[in-house]
Amino acid sequence: MTNNKTVLSWLEEMKALVTPDEVVWIDGSEEQLEALRKQACETGEMIKLNEEKLPGCYLHRTAVNDVARVEGRTFICSQKEEDAGPTNHWMDPQKAYKMLFDIARGSYKGRTMYVIPYSMGPIGSPLAKIGIEVTDSIYVVLNMAIMTRVGQAVLDVLGDSSDWVKGLHCKVNIEEENRYICHFPEDNYIISVNSGYGGNVLLGKKCFALRIASFLGKNEGWMAEHMLILGIENPQGEVKYVSAAFPSACGKTNLAMLIPPEGYREKGYKVWTVGDDIAWMRQGPDGRLYAINPEAGFFGVAPGTNMKSNPNALISTQKGTIFTNVVQNLDDNTVWWESLDKNPPEHAMNWKGEPWNGKTSDQKGAHPNSRFTAPAKNCPCISPEFENTAGVPISAIIFGGRRAQTTPLVYQSKDWNNGVFVGSIMASETTAAATGAVGVVRRDPMAMLPFCGYHMGDYFKHWFEMGEKLGDKAPKIFNTNWFRLDDEGHFIWPGFGDNFRVLEWIIRRCEGKVDAVETPIGFVPKAEDINLEGLEDFTVEDLQKILDVDKAAWAKEAEGIEEFYKQFGDRLPQELRNQLETLKKNCQ
Ligand code: GTP
Ligand code: MN
Ligand code: MN
Repeated sequence: MTNNKTVLSWLEEMKALVTPDEVVWIDGSEEQLEALRKQACETGEMIKLNEEKLPGCYLHRTAVNDVARVEGRTFICSQKEEDAGPTNHWMDPQKAYKMLFDIARGSYKGRTMYVIPYSMGPIGSPLAKIGIEVTDSIYVVLNMAIMTRVGQAVLDVLGDSSDWVKGLHCKVNIEEENRYICHFPEDNYIISVNSGYGGNVLLGKKCFALRIASFLGKNEGWMAEHMLILGIENPQGEVKYVSAAFPSACGKTNLAMLIPPEGYREKGYKVWTVGDDIAWMRQGPDGRLYAINPEAGFFGVAPGTNMKSNPNALISTQKGTIFTNVVQNLDDNTVWWESLDKNPPEHAMNWKGEPWNGKTSDQKGAHPNSRFTAPAKNCPCISPEFENTAGVPISAIIFGGRRAQTTPLVYQSKDWNNGVFVGSIMASETTAAATGAVGVVRRDPMAMLPFCGYHMGDYFKHWFEMGEKLGDKAPKIFNTNWFRLDDEGHFIWPGFGDNFRVLEWIIRRCEGKVDAVETPIGFVPKAEDINLEGLEDFTVEDLQKILDVDKAAWAKEAEGIEEFYKQFGDRLPQELRNQLETLKKNCQ
C-alpha cells in the first residue's frame, strides 16, 4: 500500500510489539468494509439491524464500565511537566512508553492487526493532516471508516512524508484503573489502552483532531478548536459561515443542524452544516480565517435526539450508522433511546444486553451517553462546501455555555482581544431545574479544557497571536447563552430552531447593519433588533430579562475568574489580566 519508510518501519515495530497473527491494511473499499461487518456480526461484536428500516445499520454494546471518555485516565506526556499545564494530567514520556508497551506486548496474539491510514479533513486539503491507527478491533475500524476518510488515497497523498500521527490501540484488561489515553504531542504519537469506547479509541477524533492538533496548531500558526461550523444562507443566496464552541452537552450538534423557524424558511433562509464538533482553522490567501471540519461523520449523543429536537441528526442516523449502547427493539430489530418518541418498546434489550420492558421498567434503556456514528453525507443539510479543500471563510466565532443566570442571551465582544477574554471565561453550571437553584460553575475556556494538548496559558497566548495575524480580517467574536432560567427553573428562551433569530443578529452585526447597546461586558442587542415574529408565549419583556447585564452579578463573576486564572501563573498572558481589570472597573 505504501513505500513510506517512516510508516513501514513503525509498523514493523508495532508488529514485533503486539505480535498479531495477521496484518490487514484498510484500503477504504466497500468490499473490505462489508466483509468486516459480516465478520463482526459472526463474533457478536456487532448486531445487524433491520435492513429495511435501518439499511446498513449496526448495534454495538461496550463493556458496562467503559461507556464514556475518562478525563482522569487521559494524559499529556510532554517532556516537561509544566508544558502540559495545570489543567491536564501529565506523565513522563519515557515512563509512559515503557508502561504502555509492556501492556501492549503480545496483545494481538491470535488476532488481526488492522492498519488504518486516515485523513483528518478532505484528502489532500492544505488544512488536512494524516494519521495511522493500528487496532485489533473491527468496531474501531468501522467507526473510523465513518468518522474519517480512510484507505489507499490517504497513503497516496502522504507519499514519503514523515508528517503523520501514530496511533496504537489495544485492549487486554478492561478494568478502569488499567485504562490509559496517552498523548505524546512532541512525538505525534497517541497510545490508547484498555478501552473500547469511541471517544477513547477513535484516535482521529478528540486525541488527534483536538489534543495533538491544538499543539501542532500552536507551533504551525493555525487553530484546532472544539467548534461546530455552519453556513447561514440568506434569501439572496449569500452564505456566511460561523463557528461555535460550546462545552460537551451544550448543543453544538443541535445548532450545527438547526432548521430556521417558520417565516424564515418561507423567505429562503437556510442553515448548512459543515461540522458539529471540531474545526481546524487557518488564515487563507486572502487574509481571512478559513475552517474545515476534520471529520467525515457525526459521533452524537443519542438520548434526546428526536424528530422535534434535531430532525436532521435523526435522519442522518437512518442508514449506514453504528449505534453504541442504545436499546434494541426485539420486535422489529430496530433501536430506541429515551425521548426518541413516546413509545418505548416492551420487548427489548437494554444497553447492557439484558431483557428490558420500556413500558414497565423504572430504569433507563439506553445509556445516557449512548451514541450514533453517522456518515456526514447522510445529513439533509450537509453543506455543499463540506468537501471543499480550501475550507469556508469564518465571519463570526461564537462562545457559549449553560448559565442559569448572569450571562445574557447574546453579546458581542468589543474586539478580538476582548473576545479571547470572553472565550477564556466560558463556563457552565449544573442546575437543579426543579427549584431553580444554581449549581457549581465549571469554567471551560473555549470548551477546550479537556482537549487542549498543552499549557492553557500558552493556548490563550496563541489566540492573541492569531488575532494579530488576522488583523481587521479577523472574525467577530460573540457569546451566547440559550439556558437562562426563570424563577420556576424553566428555560426562558425557546432555543433550538429559534436560535436562528440570534444568528441573524450576529450576521447583521458582522455586516455592520445593526446597532447595539454597550454594556460592561460588551455589546448587547437592542430588544427590538431580535426578531420575535411568530414566537408564542415569548414577549419583548422576556427578551429584555435575558438581555440584561447585572453589574453586581458580573462583579462577582470577576472574582470567580480571578480565582480560576491563578492556576496559570506566569503563563497567563498579561492581556487577560488587563481585560479582567477592565471588567472589574466597568462593573463598579
Ligand atoms: P458533544 O458532542 O459531546 O461535544 O456535545 P454537543 O455540544 O454536541 O451537545 P449535545 O448535542 O450532546 O447536547 C445537547 C443538549 O443540549 C441536549 O440536552 C439538548 O436538549 C440541549 N440543547 C441544545 N440546544 C438547546 C437550546 O437551544 N435550548 C435548550 N434549552 N437546550 C438545548
Ligand atoms: Mn455533538
Ligand atoms: Mn465534543
